[in-house]
Amino acid sequence: TEMIDKEVVIIGSGYGGSVAALRLCEKNIPVTLLEMGLDWEKSGEKFSPMINPGHSAAWLKTKTIAPFMNLFRLEKFTGALDRLDFEHIKIWVGRGVGGGSLVNGGMAVTPKKEYFKEMFPNLDTEKFYSHYFPLANKELKTNVASEEFLDGCDFYKFKRVGEEEAKNAGFKTVRVPNVYDFKYMEKEYKEEVPRSALAGEVIYGNNHGKNSLDKTYLKKATATGKLEILELHKVNHISQNPDKSYSIDISVINTKGEEIQHKIINAKKLILSAGTMGSLELLLKSKAVAQFSIDENIGKEWGNNGNFMTGRNWVKAFSGGTGFKQSTIPVGGIDHWEDKEHPFFVEIAPLPMGMNVATSLYLMVNKLKKFGEVNYNLKEQKLDLNWDKSHTVHMKDNAKYFLKTMNKANGGTRSHLLFHNGFGADVCYHPLGGIVLGKATDQFGRLNGHKNLYVIDGSLIPGTIGVNPFVTITAIAEYCMEEIIRKDFV
Ligand code: FDA
Repeated sequence: TEMIDKEVVIIGSGYGGSVAALRLCEKNIPVTLLEMGLDWEKSGEKFSPMINPGHSAAWLKTKTIAPFMNLFRLEKFTGALDRLDFEHIKIWVGRGVGGGSLVNGGMAVTPKKEYFKEMFPNLDTEKFYSHYFPLANKELKTNVASEEFLDGCDFYKFKRVGEEEAKNAGFKTVRVPNVYDFKYMEKEYKEEVPRSALAGEVIYGNNHGKNSLDKTYLKKATATGKLEILELHKVNHISQNPDKSYSIDISVINTKGEEIQHKIINAKKLILSAGTMGSLELLLKSKAVAQFSIDENIGKEWGNNGNFMTGRNWVKAFSGGTGFKQSTIPVGGIDHWEDKEHPFFVEIAPLPMGMNVATSLYLMVNKLKKFGEVNYNLKEQKLDLNWDKSHTVHMKDNAKYFLKTMNKANGGTRSHLLFHNGFGADVCYHPLGGIVLGKATDQFGRLNGHKNLYVIDGSLIPGTIGVNPFVTITAIAEYCMEEIIRKDFV
C-alpha cells in the first residue's frame, strides 16, 4: 500500500467536482482530483454510437445497459455509462473524467424561479438568477439552436412532429438550451466535420460537438497547472485520523476493473463530488465499515427528480413517422408545470434507432410527493433504497393524462413495447438529494460535525428541481465554493 499526503482532494469529476477544481486552482491552490473512470481524452479510447456499441459503452458490463433494446454483448471494460439497479428503480450515471457530462443529453435548463425558491427557501434567489445561473451557463457554454436550422434539418423531424402534436393537444412548448455546440452540428449536417449527434452518439459519449466538462471547467482548471487528475482511482471508503485529516482508501484499477494497486491518500481538506449515489455510498459505507461519523440526515430527502419515461406509437399513416435519421440532442420541451392537477415538464426525446420506428419518446419530470431514503446494507455491501411504486403513482397518472390528451388530439397509442407496457417508472437519469444543503450540511456544503469535509454535487438538492438538473448543480457548486474558498482557504 502506497501512502501519500495531499492538501486538498476532490473525489469525483462531474459538475460539482469540476467547479470545485477550477475555483480552487484559480486561487493557486493545488488540487488532486480522484476519478474512478477513464480520462477519456488521454486514453485515446473512442465513445460508442448507440446503434453499434463497443466495449466503451458500459461500465464493466457484459451486455449494453440502455433504457431499452439491450441486444449487444460487450467485453468488460471501464466504459462511460453505468447503471445502478434497485428493486423499483434503475439509476444511470456517467463514468470518467467529466462524470455525467460525458453521457448526458446536454439539456441545460435553468429551473423555474418559484420552484427553486420553494426548494431552497434559505438561498438568495435573486442572486442566483442574476449571478450564479448566468455564470454556470456561461462556463458550461450553453447555447440555443437556430430555428432556421431546426426547421430545415431532417434530423429534427422528431422535434417538429413532437411540438406540432403537443400544440394540437393544447400544450405549451418551449425551446430547450443545450451544451452541444449547435454551430458544430450545423457543420455536421453539411458534412464539413465528423458527425457525432447526427451519427447516433450520446448516452455512450460523444466524440465531437458536446461541450462536456473536460472541454469547459476541467480544461480551464488544467490550464492553471495546479490540477492533478488521477484516473481509474476508485475510492473504497474514508476515515478520519487523530489529527483530523482524512484518509482515503483507494483501489487503482485497470480497464477490466481489477485492482492493480492499493493506495491511501491523506488529505487535510476533502471534497466529496462523487455524484448523488457516489457521495451517499461513500459516507454511508464509511460509517458502516470504518466508524466514520456522519450526520443523521444523510440518506434522507432523496428523489428521482420526478423522472418518468413514456412513449407513443404514431399512427398517422402517411405522415412518415418521426424520421429515419434523428439527432441525439433534444431541443424541445413541453411546459405543463403550472397546471394544478397534472404539473409536469416533458422532454421531447429522440429515438435514434437507425430506423423509422414511428414512436415518440418522452422523458417527464414531475414533482415529488414523497421522498425516498438511502441506507447502507453492510451484509450485501451495497446501498439500499427505500423507493417503490407508491413514490411514482402520481407520475404514472400524469403520464396517462399526457398520453390521453396527445392521442385524442393526434391519434396514436401508448407505446406498449417500450419499458413496461409503455410506462418507465423505474428509469432514473436524475438522482438527487440525500445530503441536502442546509440539513446534512450548512448553507454552503460543509458537512455537519466535520471541519474540513465538504459535499459539492447533486446530493445537495432535495430530490427534485423540476427540470434537468446539471445547470442547478453547477450554480449551487459555484455559490458554495465562493464562500468556502473565501472563509476556509485563507
Ligand atoms: P456526476 O455523476 O456527474 O459525477 C460524479 C463522478 O464521481 C463520476 O465521474 C463518477 O465516476 C465519480 N465517482 C463516483 N464514485 C466514485 C468513487 N467511489 N471513487 C472515485 N470516483 C467516483 N442532466 C441535465 O441537466 N440535462 C440532461 O440532458 C441530462 N441527461 C442525462 C442523460 C443521462 C443518460 C444521464 C445518466 C444523466 C443525465 N442528466 C442530465 C443528469 C446529469 O448528468 C447529472 O445530474 C449530473 O451529472 C450530476 O452531477 P454530479 O456532479 O452530482 O455528479
